[in-house]
Amino acid sequence: MKSKIVLIFIAFIFIYCQGNIYAQGERIYTTYCLNCHGKDGNGLKNLYPPLNKSDFYAANYEKVPCIILHGLEDEIQVNGKNFMMPMAGFSNLTDVDITNLINYINTAWENKLPETTIVKVKESLEKCPE
Ligand code: HEC
Repeated sequence: MKSKIVLIFIAFIFIYCQGNIYAQGERIYTTYCLNCHGKDGNGLKNLYPPLNKSDFYAANYEKVPCIILHGLEDEIQVNGKNFMMPMAGFSNLTDVDITNLINYINTAWENKLPETTIVKVKESLEKCPE
């Protein structure tokens, strides 16, 4: 009887943790990104580009850590629409924050992008343009 309770408890913890792997990433998204990129990741009209199913994001995957840390000031095309307002960087975020955030975005909404690691994020950050 006792062991059954322990088993149920372990199963509960396991399921609970599975559902929350990217909980920290989600919190960072909600705090820093949601205002512009939206709850559903679809951005806002011609002002803020989507992060949900963004062809730009997928094609520039290596550069995403730099975009988050240093911002972006380019005229870019995302899913056929042009965007040109600059985005400020988030230099307060750590490498761990950025990794968790990217992993959240990669599987949020309709995204099905592979998981990233802190090692890959650090490698990308070393190659950021000045
Ligand atoms: C104040 C509004 C604002 C906030 C907050 C913001 N962004 Fe952006 N983001 C933009 C704009 C505007 C662009 C387009 C920049 C350009 O054209 O150079 C952009 C572009 C991007 C892109 C590349 C284009 C795309 O859609 O794939 C990524 C990736 C991105 N943002 C991620 C983030 C993440 C992650 C956060 C939170 C840490 C964030 N942004 C917070 C406004 C914002």
